[in-house]
Amino acid sequence: MDNAIKYTPQGGDICVAAVLGTSQVQVSMTDTGPGIPEPERQRIFERFAQVQSDSAARRRGFGLGLAFCKLAIEAHGGVIWVEPGPGGVGSRFTFTLPLNTA
Ligand SMILES: Nc1ncnc2c1ncn2[C@@H]1O[C@H](COP(=O)(O)OP(=O)(O)OP(=O)(O)O)[C@@H](O)[C@H]1O
Ligand SMILES: [Mg+2]
Repeated sequence: MDNAIKYTPQGGDICVAAVLGTSQVQVSMTDTGPGIPEPERQRIFERFAQVQSDSAARRRGFGLGLAFCKLAIEAHGGVIWVEPGPGGVGSRFTFTLPLNTA
């Protein structure tokens, strides 16, 4: 959510959605920001990885937020990924977390 707010220009839209399944919950954040070029979509989950850009917003960060998200989600047995938003606009980050049904 921090990224969606930071990288989406004023006037854009950010949508948070959660879907509760029988064995997992799936949460997604969709924004109308600049999007992530396909070759960068895996790399941004590595430590210190940032998309090359002149944008001041991008230079403000450390490139650690998504690496932490991936560590935390995977430690709980979930997965996290990014894809373009609807119509190829912006980004949609999604993670899953398994539900403890025991
Ligand atoms: N919603 C988004 N829209 C566009 N680009 C994004 C978005 N989220 C992440 N990125 C790109 O992925 C890179 C990595 O994101 P990450 O959150 O790991 O680091 P950061 O935001 O640069 O810094 P930090 O989160 O450590 O303050 C960002 O620098 C940016 O280039
Ligand atoms: Mg960040």
